[in-house]
Amino acid sequence: MKINTAEFIVSNSDAAKCPAERIPEYAFIGRSNVGKSSLINMLTGRNHLAKTSAKPGKTQLINHFKINANWFLVDLPGYGYAKVSKSTKATFQKFITDYFEKREQLVCGFVLIDIRHEAQKIDLEFMAYMGESEIPFCIIFTKADKISKTKIDSHIAAYRKAMRANNWEDMPPYFVTSSLEATGRDAVLSYIDDLNEDIFKNANEF
Ligand code: GTP
Ligand code: MG
Repeated sequence: MKINTAEFIVSNSDAAKCPAERIPEYAFIGRSNVGKSSLINMLTGRNHLAKTSAKPGKTQLINHFKINANWFLVDLPGYGYAKVSKSTKATFQKFITDYFEKREQLVCGFVLIDIRHEAQKIDLEFMAYMGESEIPFCIIFTKADKISKTKIDSHIAAYRKAMRANNWEDMPPYFVTSSLEATGRDAVLSYIDDLNEDIFKNANEF
């Protein structure tokens, strides 16, 4: 997919105030600092569209970006930055769960996972929440440039195993990306493009 236009539309802390427009929407979620905003810049080819930072907690609001004038990419704040008790089940910021539960235009959530690390409890809990809420999601492994090519496969295999141990039949569709090297750009964009095409064909039902 060619990105002709990518424009920032609005930031919100209230899911109910997000744009009303019924166009397909895709949201990036994951722990703070995992690379959500960088991935939006990499996919759109605009280095400064979404604000990034080496310090966790940069994105604090729900940010809508309109792509090619007919679909939205959404940059969300990270979870796991605000203090979460290690012993209890994680709770996610209410405006984030509101967003996922209320946003009818959302076609797919992308849960970003840093490919360097073992499966983290908070990510598994977030994916369990997505499953229980019946919200379709994919996994995007980020920062692939930080490990060797040979390690990528073994880390993915370990992640699949962790998901199976957490009652998933299998991993959802997944992508391996590096925002630094633009790895995975075509794969993610064609996945979105295919979903959009189906939606635009059956526009009356969307
Ligand atoms: P919050 O908004 O705080 O939740 O973070 P975020 O998930 O949006 O992360 P962000 O895109 O701001 O990136 C965090 C840090 O990771 C920055 O220093 C980025 O430069 C770095 N980073 C992001 N993606 C990659 C990547 O693919 N490779 C490398 N090497 N660094 C990356
Ligand atoms: Mg961010």
